[in-house]
Amino acid sequence: MFDKKTVREVDVRGKRVLVRVDFNVPLSEGTVTDDTRVRASLPTVRYLIDHGARVILVSHLGRPKGRPDAQFSLRPVRRVLQRLVGRNVVFIDQTVGKEATEAVERMVDGEILMLENVRFSPGEKENDPEFAKELASLADIYVDDAFGAAHRAHASTVGVTTHLPAYAGMLLAREVETLTEMLAHPGHPFVAILGGSKVSDKFGVIDRLLESVDTLVIGGGMCFTLLVAMGAEVGKSLVEPDWVEPAKQMLEKASERGVELILPVDLVVADAMVEDAETKIVGRGEIPANTMGLDIGPTTVELVKGAISQAKTIFWNGPMGVFELTPFENGTREVALAVARNNRAVSVVGGGDSVAALRKFGLEERVTFVSTGGGASMRLLEGSELPGLEALLDK
Ligand code: 3PG
Repeated sequence: MFDKKTVREVDVRGKRVLVRVDFNVPLSEGTVTDDTRVRASLPTVRYLIDHGARVILVSHLGRPKGRPDAQFSLRPVRRVLQRLVGRNVVFIDQTVGKEATEAVERMVDGEILMLENVRFSPGEKENDPEFAKELASLADIYVDDAFGAAHRAHASTVGVTTHLPAYAGMLLAREVETLTEMLAHPGHPFVAILGGSKVSDKFGVIDRLLESVDTLVIGGGMCFTLLVAMGAEVGKSLVEPDWVEPAKQMLEKASERGVELILPVDLVVADAMVEDAETKIVGRGEIPANTMGLDIGPTTVELVKGAISQAKTIFWNGPMGVFELTPFENGTREVALAVARNNRAVSVVGGGDSVAALRKFGLEERVTFVSTGGGASMRLLEGSELPGLEALLDK
């Protein structure tokens, strides 16, 4: 159960509402290339304007160095939001200061104002109390809908809550509910598919998932550290030497708990990670010394598809290979298709790369839930507290 107060539990009419969103979207030459996170904010934004609030949106974008930097401006996101929400969005080049205060004073009920990138101010990441106070002074109420940034204890996610009554937005609530419910009461068989480059990033999550999954599939770059832990030679494949010992413990835990662990039995290898690479399919014990594994092989794909087709709950985070390059996209595409095809299961997909893969193969609408959180969903699933969530009012 979600135990924080949500935006539906406060009267917002005529109020200035500071809404922390996560508009950290990919940009290419000033254009937003994936608007998933902007779309995900719409239920809260629409609810607020429909209920006569004055909506002040604050977000970060990228990792600027605490000062204005045009390449990280949120201005391109304003156009996207304007189109999606179907009404004017006022944008100002400041986050706090005279211009921001005056712009807020001019607002009328139902209007949307978007502030410039909050990370242009050094006080944001430092959670500087003065900066948090100044930001909070723009509003009467605070709503946190930035699930993707909930693991950051910054001024706009935590500091402002000292000064304003703080509520959860609808996206934040839905993300937390979906992910916690998936772990607490999964339908069985529960199949988790993890990929991506580093096992170190997902170790905590794997450890927690081993408590509730029936089958764990590990592909992507991270599988090689596990293969080394099993005594395999992996050529030039990506390995994190410091994680070989923990990986051995992970293998033991999986076996103790009776979890079926699916690791690649064959791989697509090449000597370079390039679009015109010459590829070969080899068994997992036969990776030539001068090559690296860049995708799971066809026999593994069949094993994984078989597990996915039987599942009642599916969690997928991280690609199976370097899917951005055609020679290494097959494993990820087949996993995406298999997840999409199983419409009896609750399927939850998280992490920027898996979501990008779903989009690449046009399957976004065919899964139950797409999480907008990268690091935040990993922290939540491994059982760590999310400071942005903790700071909100309890029910
Ligand atoms: C994300 O993309 O995971 C969030 O927007 C958080 O961004 P950050 O890692 O730069 O804090």
